[in-house]
Amino acid sequence: MDPPWPARYDRGMLLGRGSERAAIDGLIRGASQGVSGVLLLRGDAGAGKTALLEYAADTTAGMTVVRARGIEAESSLPFAALADVLRPMMAQLDRLPPVQSASLRAALVIGPPLPGDRFTTYVAALNLVALFAETQPLLIVVDDLHWIDPESAEALFFAARRLGAERIAMLFAARDSGDLPADPAALPVLQLGGLDKDPSLQLLSQATPAIAAPVATAIWRASGGNPLALTEIPRLLSERQLHGHDPLPDPLPVGTRLVTAYQARLENLPAAARTVLLLAAASDDGDLGPIAAAARIAGVEPGSALGAAESIGLIDIDGSLAFRHPLIRSAVYAAATAEERRNAHRLLAEGLPNDAAARRTWHRSAACLGPDEAVANELEAVASEQRIRRAYAAAFHAFNRAAELSRQTPDRARRLGEAAMCAFFAGRAESAVAQYDRALALVTDPITHANLVLRRGDIAIWLSNPIAAQRALAAEADRIAAIDPKMSALLLIHATGPCFMTAEVLEAKRTAQRALEMAGRSGDPMTVAAAEVALAEALFLHGEGAQTSSTLRQYLPQLASAGPEIANSVAAR
Ligand SMILES: Nc1ncnc2c1ncn2[C@@H]1O[C@H](COP(=O)(O)OP(=O)(O)O)[C@@H](O)[C@H]1O
Ligand SMILES: [Mg+2]
Repeated sequence: MDPPWPARYDRGMLLGRGSERAAIDGLIRGASQGVSGVLLLRGDAGAGKTALLEYAADTTAGMTVVRARGIEAESSLPFAALADVLRPMMAQLDRLPPVQSASLRAALVIGPPLPGDRFTTYVAALNLVALFAETQPLLIVVDDLHWIDPESAEALFFAARRLGAERIAMLFAARDSGDLPADPAALPVLQLGGLDKDPSLQLLSQATPAIAAPVATAIWRASGGNPLALTEIPRLLSERQLHGHDPLPDPLPVGTRLVTAYQARLENLPAAARTVLLLAAASDDGDLGPIAAAARIAGVEPGSALGAAESIGLIDIDGSLAFRHPLIRSAVYAAATAEERRNAHRLLAEGLPNDAAARRTWHRSAACLGPDEAVANELEAVASEQRIRRAYAAAFHAFNRAAELSRQTPDRARRLGEAAMCAFFAGRAESAVAQYDRALALVTDPITHANLVLRRGDIAIWLSNPIAAQRALAAEADRIAAIDPKMSALLLIHATGPCFMTAEVLEAKRTAQRALEMAGRSGDPMTVAAAEVALAEALFLHGEGAQTSSTLRQYLPQLASAGPEIANSVAAR
């Protein structure tokens, strides 16, 4: 018989971890006395990060605790984790300056979209948290940080770096392996190793009193004191192995090998329970409604199926559904065939209510076997909406997936181009350029091509090699000259910028002269004005600046009413 699963994170259950508890105690004491602080716990899967977060949440007498956690899912709904953190504070939103409250409302999709920059949203979140902490000290706990949406990660790190005398403690936990969704830069890290020998042996004998001492010591060594491995390994051993009569399996399942151990346990479950577990694993949160609805569509009665999984300790149901450990979710998902997974996503999409459009679209996209224009279209709409709300990382992801699902090459190229622009706005210039290159490889229409080169160039000039960016812009200007002189002129105007950056003044002058020639051919006075200004600048730097001021006096007022295309080209230098 399986040993009973230890009641999760019972108070007082935490073994060892003296120095880690002291660090957390210090953080919390500081916050309650008006010295804010932050700590990022890092460790392997099963190292005990969540257990320590629970410990922290339990030791905060008189503090308000707010929580969020990441879930491994393709759909990254922007600001989802931030919304969880801020939920209890929303009543105070109107105490913020109106620009900030409107910006936060837009980000959290409880108000209309708003033009502006994402930092306004971050400042608003920081101020809201600080306002809230005026009346009571606050502990913000964010678990599985590696899986939260990048928008939330940026906002939370932004706040974490600016904490001062607010009475706020922030505690993050993330896996060692794997990138974080944003750069935590200088946040203080508490690295979790394994449990020491004594607490490890205690944990083993608590769960499995019959275990022989040398077997326990061997498991401790093999597991490196990883608490999850310590609780799981005895379940895999025979009676004879536990008593030390038979050798232990080699290697013992530790780290991601635990996934295989969980899969072995799944095999003993009835098919209906496995179906519901897969639905839960494929779902992007623990909301029981859609999971149950999807199960019913599949002809499975969810209640008893979930009960079976709960009784062997794979999940907890307490208003919502939670896997006992994220590795169980990984195990369930990995054990399914690709077809079963697609089917689960399709069922979830059907089970979701109408107002969950973005999530439904993501599930539909995960259910696609190959290109599907209808779904690509829906995803593009999701991406456009997210872009309006300045959730650029999420929009980038959605445009990219829409590109993958596109049937026609021009659609794919367009979506890649949109993804590139979102990547840039999300602060990822290098992936923006890479994305433009992917789009350019697909485009045959010369004007579309030139447009993409222009946008790519504006970003590439700020990266490592401005001269290469300049050449790419100038070469494209030549290619398009006969077809679209105005575009050619714009490309050349943009190409003068990197010349200034690298002090190639002669090249700047030549480039601006060609820009003016092309602008003249285009017959568009605005383009001529922009080229004149570019040339005046080059001449000035070349020491021929006698007429610069009269040129600028003549053309700048005209440019004040220029459309974005021309304004950009003037600004690009
Ligand atoms: N110090 C500890 N003492 C006793 N049990 C622990 C301890 N740390 C973790 N556990 C148990 O080990 C398992 C894995 O811990 P968890 O906190 O979920 O790991 P992580 O969040 O790092 O993946 C859980 O069942 C947890 O209750
Ligand atoms: Mg955890």
